[in-house]
Formats: sequence, structure tokens, C-alpha cells
Amino acid sequence: MCGIIGYVGARDAVQVLLNGLRRLEYRGYDSAGICISSAEKLHIARSVGKVSALESGPVLKKLYGTVGIAHTRWATHGEPTQENAHPHADCKGEFAIVHNGIIENYAELKQMLIEKGHVFRSETDSEVVAHLIEEFYDGSFEKAVRNAVSLVAGAFGIVAAHRGENKLIAVRKSSPIVIGIGNNEMFVASDPAAIVEYTRKVVYLGDGELAVITPLGYTVKKMSGEKVNKHVDNISFSLSHIEKKGFKHFMLKEIFEQPESVGNVMRGRLKGSEIKLSINVDTRAVRRVILVACGTSWHAALIGKQYIEKYAKIPCEADYASEFRYRDLPLSKDDLVVAISQSGETADTLGAALKAKSHGAKTIGIINVVGSAISREVDGGIYLHAGPEVGVASTKAFTSQVVALFLLALYIRLQNGGLVPEDAISELKQLPAKIDSILDNAGQIQRIASEIKSASSILYLGRGINYPVALEGALKLKEVSYIHAEGYPAGEMKHGPIALVEEGFPVVFIATKDSNYEKVLANISEIRARKGRVIVVADVPGVALEGMADFIIEVPRTIPDLSPILNVIPLQMLAYYTADLKGLDVDKPRNLAKSVTVE
Ligand code: F6R
Repeated sequence: MCGIIGYVGARDAVQVLLNGLRRLEYRGYDSAGICISSAEKLHIARSVGKVSALESGPVLKKLYGTVGIAHTRWATHGEPTQENAHPHADCKGEFAIVHNGIIENYAELKQMLIEKGHVFRSETDSEVVAHLIEEFYDGSFEKAVRNAVSLVAGAFGIVAAHRGENKLIAVRKSSPIVIGIGNNEMFVASDPAAIVEYTRKVVYLGDGELAVITPLGYTVKKMSGEKVNKHVDNISFSLSHIEKKGFKHFMLKEIFEQPESVGNVMRGRLKGSEIKLSINVDTRAVRRVILVACGTSWHAALIGKQYIEKYAKIPCEADYASEFRYRDLPLSKDDLVVAISQSGETADTLGAALKAKSHGAKTIGIINVVGSAISREVDGGIYLHAGPEVGVASTKAFTSQVVALFLLALYIRLQNGGLVPEDAISELKQLPAKIDSILDNAGQIQRIASEIKSASSILYLGRGINYPVALEGALKLKEVSYIHAEGYPAGEMKHGPIALVEEGFPVVFIATKDSNYEKVLANISEIRARKGRVIVVADVPGVALEGMADFIIEVPRTIPDLSPILNVIPLQMLAYYTADLKGLDVDKPRNLAKSVTVE
């Protein structure tokens, strides 16, 4: 949510910053802006919409300099206008800042600053930071930034520039900041994807740390001013991982990467009939598991709940992180709270993990982005190793999360003296090849997409372990194609949603041959009887389904518990192809952003 980048060195900063913005654009695309600092003045160019609009604007062509900051915005306070676009400057144009996060007390700070004579030009919360720096400046840029942020409440990653200084200052509280180390040049960003083109040597700022960055190096300090020695990390992915590699969109590329990403989450973790996880938590004393997540990750949690209850035999809840964190739920050291998040940055999931920790519960993360905020706060966890997910609609992270949750459930079962069911490991190992065979079916799914692309509403129905797949299929479709879609437990259909069904109304069923199969067939008949248009994802498309469905998408058979991992793939493809046929910007759906770092 909002992307920020800064550069100090000898190169043309405009090009470095624009390249970085393009890679950060998935975090927000309401507006973009750039500030180049020179001895004479801060040159700021901003525009509404995507980075391409900024790039083609007249001001940018005239800009040149070797130190600067830039931002791509997902609007929170104030509409996506040019005035509200970052960077924001103080009254005299001496300081400029870019900000990711929310300043909770901005209204009081703004009032205080207005009373002191400061003039505001935007409706954003962020602008107060530039004016606070101006207010505190007495010759030391660093001291002014330190004093300014000490007054700010909320979550933020901020990078500030000062006219005439070959230096940037970055501060982090909750929102991520990474410093990239080059040769006589330094980078700073909200996400390593923005700088991996230039360096893979990075330092992640910790919470409450401030960095002074010059072309020759960086110094990290606590807010008290005490120096901090930082570990230099290596970015684990390369530029090629965040490029489209010939695919039309990142979403499609990431759907097609699933044979590999599902293989990666298992790699090194299956040893004979053992499950090897270094989760750093003794699960033998756990009496209750609570899975917390948002969006697609919450759908994975709903599947995980069924795994934990069935295999680990421990009561389990799956809660929206945004609900859990404000619920008066008694928690204790006997609870294991599992935060599931692709980005590892989602504000509510982070808040939920912190709440669990402060109440003495054990915490682990199931996270994709290494070194992210949640992964730093939890006691231990499982990294997905799915590689960067750039498409705003989550795809490969979901299937990896489900596999990780299956492994976790088996791991707890083993810790408690149980055995892993014989077929579980062999079926897990066959998943990548089975996903591959579903991807071969793109032609049929494109044809179905062309049939549904004009629908105004679609119902997705499933039962048991495939009910969350219905939710996920519906979420994917509405996110990228803007067609209203609703996921529902098939058994609940008669209690309301069936009222929507009339001739031609599309209904997508997940009909896996498990203990619910006959009941799903009965539900299909009920839709058929009302002349609904039936699309079925089935692993046994035999006689029982013949004549009952307009389209049958066949997926390979696996054990029912792993079927969500296969069943979701055609639904992701259906969403993608429908949106693409409608000519929509699949990777950047309107109003969405990749990492939701605000509540
Ligand atoms: C849906 C989607 C979102 C995310 C949600 C949580 O396609 O991408 O619903 O799943 O914002 O994000 P993470 O997993 O990063 O915490």
C-alpha cells in the first residue's frame, strides 16, 4: 500500500526512481510523484494515475539530479488528486517527504502547525511530516526528522530529502523500509523489488529505527540516537522473478508458476513419513489454534481450520484478523495463533499477531515475503518460498498457504504421537504435476470465460473443504473482472441465494467426489430445474454429471483434503480470462493495492 523509493549516488536519479516506481506500482496506483533535490531547490513532479502518466508529463523531461525520492500512492486521506500526490513539501520548499502508512494524530498536528503559521496544500495526513521537519529544523536535518517523527502516532515508513544535502533520511514504524547498498550509491525503498535491479545487498530497518543515507554509506540509529549495527541481507530473488517473462500479465504468470511454487513450499519439509518444520514453537502444549488472516489468506485459513481439527485433533478457529484484533477473546500460553499473510505486512494481520503475543499466546507466521513485518514479530513460522507475487490478485500464495497449513496440521499430529496418513505424502508430491495438467486446459476455460463475461452476477457453491474454494473463486472473479460474485456453502443456497437464479444465471459448483458429492449433485439439480447455467469443476466427470452441467472442467483426482489446491486453479484462470476478455487491467484492479498496510 503506497510504494516509496529514494536514491543518492551518481546516476540520473530520475531514471532510477522511475524504474523503482514501475516495480512498486502494484502497491498503489492512484497517483505518482518524484522529487529531485538540488542545491537551488527541490524539483517536484506529480500526476494523477499510473506511473506512465507521470513519466509522460512535461515537467519530468526537464528534471535531472543525483538525489531524489519518489512515491506511488494508494489514497487513504484525500482523493487521488495532484495536490494529494506525494512527495509533500514544507512551506518554503526546503524539505520533501514520501510516506507509506497512516498518521493517526495528523488532525491535531495539522491544527497545531496551522496555528504556528504553516500553510497546507493537500488533504493528506502525510503533509504534516514535512511541516514538522521545517518547524524543528535548526541546522541539523537528522535532528529535525527525529523530533518530527517523535510526535507522530500511527504506522509509517518515511523517506525525507533536504534541499542542497546529498543525503536522505528514512524512518520506520511498522511500515517496511529497506536500504540497498551499492558502490558509491545507496537506495532506499518500501520493498526490495524496487531496487533489486541495482543491488541485492540490503539492510532492513527495524521498528523505531532511523537511517541517514549518503552515497558512501548509511548509519542506522534508534530514536534515542544510539547507533545500531545492522546485518546485511541478500535479496533472495532476482530481477527475472519480478518480470512477466512473456506472459501478458503477472496474474497469469503467477497462476502458471504454481507447479513450481507448490513444489517449493514442500521442498526439504517431507522426509519419509516425517514432516520437518522449524517453527520454533513447541506445539505439544497447544490446546487451541487460531488462524488469523485477511482476504484470500483468510480463505486458506478456513481450509487450514479443517486440517488442524482433523489431523492435529485440536480445536481451531479461523478469524478475520481485523475482527480478531478487536475481539475480547481470552488468550493464554496454551493458544497458538497463526498469522497467514502473503506480504507479511497486512496491518490487521500484524495487529492480530501482536495482540496474541501481548496476551502470552504462542505465535507463528505463514508468510511469503522474507523479513517482512509479521515474520519479525512472530515466534517462528513457515516461509512459503513462492517467489514474489506481483499481481494484485493473490494466486500462487493461496495454494502455497494451503499446502503449508496441511504440513502444519500433520506436523502437530506427529508431535503429539500420531502418524501421518499413508497417502498424504505421496499425494502431496503429485500436486505439481497435477496442477500442470490443469494449466493445459486453458483453451476450455477461455471459452467458458467468453460465455460468462457479460454476466452481472455469478454464484460459486461448494461444500466442506471446498466451500472456501467457492469463496476464493468468487473473490478472484469480482476483484479482477468487476462482475459481482458470491461464494456460498452449497447447502445454504436454498436459504436465500437461490432467489437470484433465473434462466441463464451462471452458477459455478465445486463437485469433488468426497462424502459431500451426492449432496452437491442434488444442489446442481436444483439450479438446473430453475434453468440456471451450470459450470462444474469435477474430479470425476462421469455419468452422474452428464446432462446436468453446461460446462464441466475436469481436474485430476487427489485425496479430498488436498482437492482445494487443484480445484482453485481453474477458478483463478476463469477469473483471469474473463477480466482479460473484458479488456481490464488485470494486474491493477481498480481501488485495490497489493499490501494493505492500513486498517
Ligand atoms: C485477494 C488478495 C487480498 C489479500 C489480502 C491479504 O486476491 O490479494 O484479499 O489476500 O489483502 O493479504 P496478505 O496475504 O498479504 O496478508
